[in-house]
Amino acid sequence: RRGLQTFGRVTLFAIITATGVFLLVTQSEAHPGEQLPQDPSKPTVVVLGSGWGATSFLKNLDTEEFNVVVVSPRNYFLFTPLLPSVTVGTLEPRSLIQPTRFITRHKKRDVLVYEAEARTVDPINKTVTFEDISEVKGKKGSVTIPYDYLVYAVGCENQTFGIKGVREHACFLKELSDADKIRSKLMDCIETAAFRDQSQEEIDRLMHMVVVGGGPTGVEYAGELHDFLIDDLKKWYPEVADRLKITLVEALPNVLPAFSKQLIQYTESTFKENKIDVLTRTMVKDVGETSVTVQDANKETREIPYGLLVWATGNTSRPITLDLMSKLPATQTQRRGLVIDDYLQLLGARDVFAIGDCTATQYAPTAQVASQEGIYLASVFAKLGQKNKYERQLADLRASGTASADDIESVVKKLNRATKLTPFHYSHQGSLAYIGSEKAIADLPLFNGNVASGGGAAMLFWRSAYVSTLYSVRNRTLVMTDWLKVKLFGRDVSRE
Ligand code: FAD
Ligand code: NAI
Repeated sequence: RRGLQTFGRVTLFAIITATGVFLLVTQSEAHPGEQLPQDPSKPTVVVLGSGWGATSFLKNLDTEEFNVVVVSPRNYFLFTPLLPSVTVGTLEPRSLIQPTRFITRHKKRDVLVYEAEARTVDPINKTVTFEDISEVKGKKGSVTIPYDYLVYAVGCENQTFGIKGVREHACFLKELSDADKIRSKLMDCIETAAFRDQSQEEIDRLMHMVVVGGGPTGVEYAGELHDFLIDDLKKWYPEVADRLKITLVEALPNVLPAFSKQLIQYTESTFKENKIDVLTRTMVKDVGETSVTVQDANKETREIPYGLLVWATGNTSRPITLDLMSKLPATQTQRRGLVIDDYLQLLGARDVFAIGDCTATQYAPTAQVASQEGIYLASVFAKLGQKNKYERQLADLRASGTASADDIESVVKKLNRATKLTPFHYSHQGSLAYIGSEKAIADLPLFNGNVASGGGAAMLFWRSAYVSTLYSVRNRTLVMTDWLKVKLFGRDVSRE
């Protein structure tokens, strides 16, 4: 009995402590303190973007020595790794986003945030022009501001290879609005297929979901769609659910070229079990309103009718990035992205740093790379801040005419330390992807080698890895609540 009492007391103590810590963290997240005002004597850092690169830079930057201005058409950070789950309602859209102001309001010094799209960068005169592209416009909609340093992190746009009809008829999966659109169009296809007296041929077309691109985006989406079919559609749309067909089209001989061979085979066999048709060595050549034209390895072409088409064939540079490259023709010679040095400085420009998907480096365009670059760049700015501070001190000492040689030498030493930078080093933490039916794949760099694992355990690892990297306690709480809601009640099949 005494044992039970002790256990009860320890449990109660643990619950009270955990609740206290949770409340403390949430309160400090929700109620930021006072900030220092911007200081005209400090240099201005303009940050373009609010994605992985920009947000990790902002989060780690000490704003004491800088006036920071953020410009992005999206006023939030989006946790892209879980975006495929939004397309079928496993997760709710707002669970994956964090307002940029939430991030900047926790900085030491006031940070200016503008919801706008940067239109041009002038690397000679060091200015950025940006424009309000939202629906509601004020009298002032475009402005040009100077920068002392520019952090360029605008990411990429969707690659279409100029294939006709893609932009008009396909859905992409990059932004939150894309996932919402897919969710709505998917339900529209299903409702239309279930419409009274729909012909058999039309039901088959409407229930055919085609995914183009067998990279991780296409594979994860196909996996989520399969789960939706098995867990929910069969229950709520028994009359048409069995007609749902998923086809993944990939130009290369296999899906997921960046994963290890064993995991590629595991994914392809899981897809086979799940009746997801994988057409490899097949390229989409043309996209119509209701069908795509594909060409196989024998150069034979055929039409595939579809209801919903999701296009996931990778990235290409944004127009503003191409424009910036054209202003620096001697050094910016790769269409794939901006060329930077080992310290993430843009080649050919002064005081411009570029990070993330908009750059052409030896690394894959991933969130992991962009966020590590953001952290590294914040450390470069910490040194820059010190350098500026010691330069000012040195100038004051020299101007005073009374400073001793020792005083001056001590500041010169500090200045020299602040100017020494180590190059960026990327540390790969592994690759993870969800492939449906509660299975994930994981390529992990462990024990001086690579450990490849696929299945339910990898799915639990995938979930815990992503929950722990979500931006805030609020995001973690929302995502875990969404998972619990789906387990208890299933996914919501209503169409907004
Ligand atoms: P982004 O995160 O795309 O951010 C770019 C920012 O710039 C955005 O805020 C955008 O609004 C803004 N912007 C655009 N144009 C302008 C402009 N003209 N002016 C100012 N701002 C502008 N990577 C992984 O490592 N692991 C994963 O599991 C993973 N899963 C993914 C799943 C999906 C569905 C997708 C689409 C990507 C996934 N990625 C993953 C890749 C990862 O999301 C990108 O590599 C990462 O977002 C790149 O970060 P970034 O900061 O360069 O660009
Ligand atoms: P991707 O570039 O990785 O894959 C695109 C695929 O589309 C390629 O395999 C390509 O061969 C194929 N393709 C191109 N044109 C085609 C055509 N006309 N017809 C048929 N197939 C065609 O693109 P994805 O998946 O969008 O990923 C972009 C980046 O984001 C990658 O670096 C990826 O690693 C990262 N990412 C990582 C994730 C993860 O780690 N879980 C999840 C999603 C994205």
